[in-house]
Amino acid sequence: MDVSFLLLFLTFLSSPSVSSSTIQTLSQGSSLSVERPEDVLVSPNSLFSAGFYLVGDNSYCLAIWFTKSINRTVVWMANRDQPVNGRRSELSLLRNGNLILTDAGWLTVWSTSTVGASMVQLKLNDDGNLELIGSEGVVYWHSFDSPTDTLLPHQPLTRNTRLVSRRSHTNISSGFYQLFFDNDNLLRLRYDGPDVSSFYWPDPWRLDWETGRSPFNNSRIALLDPSGSFISTDDFTFQSSDLGASVQRRLTLDFDGNVRLYSFEEGKDDWVVTWQAISQPCKIHGICGPNSLCSYLHDSGRRCSCLPGYEMKNSNDWTDGCIPKFNLSCQGDKAGFVHLPHVEFYGYDIGFFRNQTLDSCKMLCSQKRNCKGFQYRIGESDGVYHCYPKTLLLNGYTSPPFIGHIYLKFPKADLLPHGKSAKEFLLDCSGEIPQPLARTYPRSRENGVLTFMLWFACAVGGVEMICILLVWCFLRKIHQEPSADTQGYGLPVTQFIKFTYAELKKATQGFSEEIGRGGGGTVYKGLLSDHREAAIKQLNLTNQGEAEFWAEVSTIGRLNHMNLIELWGYCAEGKHRLLVYEYMDHGSLAQNLTSNTLDWKKRFEIAVGTAKGLAYLHEECLEWVLHCDVKPQNILLDSNYQPKVSDFGLSKLLNRGGFNNSSFSRIRGTRGYMAPEWVLNLPITSKVDVYSYGIVVLEMVTGKSAAMDINTAEGRGEHKSLVAWVKRKMNGETRTASWMEEILDPKMEGKYDTGKMEILVAVALQCLQEDKDQRPTMGQVVEMLLRHENDYY
Ligand SMILES: *[C@@H]1O[C@H](CO)[C@@H](O)[C@H](O)[C@H]1NC(C)=O
Ligand SMILES: *[C@@H]1O[C@H](CO)[C@@H](O)[C@H](O)[C@H]1NC(C)=O
Ligand SMILES: *[C@@H]1O[C@H](CO)[C@@H](O)[C@H](O)[C@H]1NC(C)=O
Ligand SMILES: *[C@@H]1O[C@H](CO)[C@@H](O)[C@H](O)[C@H]1NC(C)=O
Ligand SMILES: *[C@@H]1O[C@H](CO)[C@@H](O)[C@H](O)[C@H]1NC(C)=O
Repeated sequence: MDVSFLLLFLTFLSSPSVSSSTIQTLSQGSSLSVERPEDVLVSPNSLFSAGFYLVGDNSYCLAIWFTKSINRTVVWMANRDQPVNGRRSELSLLRNGNLILTDAGWLTVWSTSTVGASMVQLKLNDDGNLELIGSEGVVYWHSFDSPTDTLLPHQPLTRNTRLVSRRSHTNISSGFYQLFFDNDNLLRLRYDGPDVSSFYWPDPWRLDWETGRSPFNNSRIALLDPSGSFISTDDFTFQSSDLGASVQRRLTLDFDGNVRLYSFEEGKDDWVVTWQAISQPCKIHGICGPNSLCSYLHDSGRRCSCLPGYEMKNSNDWTDGCIPKFNLSCQGDKAGFVHLPHVEFYGYDIGFFRNQTLDSCKMLCSQKRNCKGFQYRIGESDGVYHCYPKTLLLNGYTSPPFIGHIYLKFPKADLLPHGKSAKEFLLDCSGEIPQPLARTYPRSRENGVLTFMLWFACAVGGVEMICILLVWCFLRKIHQEPSADTQGYGLPVTQFIKFTYAELKKATQGFSEEIGRGGGGTVYKGLLSDHREAAIKQLNLTNQGEAEFWAEVSTIGRLNHMNLIELWGYCAEGKHRLLVYEYMDHGSLAQNLTSNTLDWKKRFEIAVGTAKGLAYLHEECLEWVLHCDVKPQNILLDSNYQPKVSDFGLSKLLNRGGFNNSSFSRIRGTRGYMAPEWVLNLPITSKVDVYSYGIVVLEMVTGKSAAMDINTAEGRGEHKSLVAWVKRKMNGETRTASWMEEILDPKMEGKYDTGKMEILVAVALQCLQEDKDQRPTMGQVVEMLLRHENDYY
């Protein structure tokens, strides 16, 4: 049979109505058909379109999409959980005023329930709102009242609406994550899985006032304005990192459970992330399913793996988690446990048992039939170990700085799996291929040829879809880099405040009390209007460029770790550039080393804390951040002598995918602390900070400053000579105690802890290897130091 004849025949069969290139309004009695691709409502500014959107094999949803992005960006859907057929489905504005969506010509899957509305027409506004509007401007229905997973500027989130994520990258139906106002008036994110649900944002263990939320206003409205600020009645606010510029924005609850603000970038014709709610992807509940572990990877974001002895339940979908490979129903009297260090599972505790030995905790868990394992960790306030048996192992993640352990229970010791590490299962990409939809087709009245043609078209379409997806999977494999959407590059979380110059002038009483001075500027002590003590750094714009200022604001503004200085706000007014930090009672490590206030215990804790802060920067936080200027002047001590790394003026955000040498156009850092890579023009990695950290640790042990000469008799000293000097002392002596005494900071008057000193020097020298690949990562440093501290490993 001739193909052109068939095509002609098909055209003839299809509805004879006249088509126009763009439709501005739909009037009563007319309809949009799924079969005519040109049946699309377009907003007057042509930024938005509304019509049928292909979501899978021969299935369509009524959607509004943003037209300018390379790939259409859907901002609203009417029937995401019940797509309609690619044949004879229509959106009709009936004469009675009701707007209905029919599947395959007979089943109404969606309607606006506006029967009785008179003289109405359907219009798509410039802001992306689809309106059913009467002749006197009465709005009978509009799409802004029923958001899907996206809020547009001017579209309020109210007590009656919520955002629901899509199911996966390729599946647009309703997923497991929701953003809404809870009954306590707070805007929250919830994981609402098939079996359990839990809130995960704001941090569930923090109190309202700690998260800056206020539960008192029950109007429950949140709104994104076009300039990029978001304001909610629970006092939660944030601002886009590109505040002000008149670009198109959208706030989307993505399928991975994170809320992100996107701005449309004209040049790239694509969206960039300008804010996101959660910077640690593993903290999102349910992300890897039950019995699995999430770990953070700086090159691909996140990885899921099954616990030892468990296997993936559904190789296409991590949200189903893992199931045991052993028989749970056999309960021997001798349970066995597998130890997983640095692992946390949030929630589902049977109880909390204070001050337990490991054996008593194992006993507790073996005796409880529903105990799947327990968390064993040292209490931060009391220094004794606590035991938390768990009924479910959900929301698991592993992170080197986390001090806590999981002991996984096996009903019989002889069921213990071989090999202790969590087994990794890589996500099978084929899982992304959408399954055909199960839908009821009406009994066809068309003739056999048409039926054949439809099947043929479906088959071709299906094969085509699969090919596209396979290619897409393949491309993703070779790129190994998350798409710009999920990567979230270049966004500051602006939880912090923008101050006016006058406010800061008042806080510092006219910049009267100077507490520090550095290359970048002068630091003053100040008292903010909310009675918090602050350190206010006034930058010298001639020395510290605009770029460094914004580098610091945007890098540090989004970090959140107890060993990193907290930035509360900034001021950029005229030529004034100021940064407002938390105030640190005990000044810098450099000051404390010269004034001899630090005993061994404090020194060791400072080494551990600093390492944790840096490990967070390198391995855990949203971006891969290199500090590039680690030195005792930049390590500040709070009232308990806990260290906080500060001064991110030279820091560098590295693209996760790889390192581009040219982006380091000039040497950063301070003489004496700089790794050989800088001088030798070798690739710069996080190991430059590891090197500087090694120097800092040696300084803490020896009390000698790397930046100064060791002692003239030993040759003109630079940092190498401090290292060389320590090594010489170590090798020259056979009795360990003796070299320790010789290199020990004389201010310690011979008081030292052999074990701690040994581990510190060993770690420092490892960090100071000339070859960067021989140096440990900061995470490994933390592990080495802690292993020494808690030697029950
Ligand atoms: C748009 O689609 C093309 C082809 O399917 C794909 O290569 C590209 O990554 C997509 N862009 C975005 C931003 O998703
Ligand atoms: C609650 O928030 C609304 C909207 O921002 C505001 O108009 C109202 O005054 C607030 N009510 C109280 C009691 O603060
Ligand atoms: C698991 O143990 C129960 C009770 O001992 C037994 O009935 C069942 O057959 C076992 N299942 C498997 C898969 O071994
Ligand atoms: C913990 O228990 C041990 C032994 O029962 C006891 O000696 C010790 O005082 C307890 N410590 C605390 C902080 O309760
Ligand atoms: C999308 O996910 C839903 C819910 O899990 C599932 O029922 C549906 O079959 C999926 N659709 C596709 C096209 O994979």
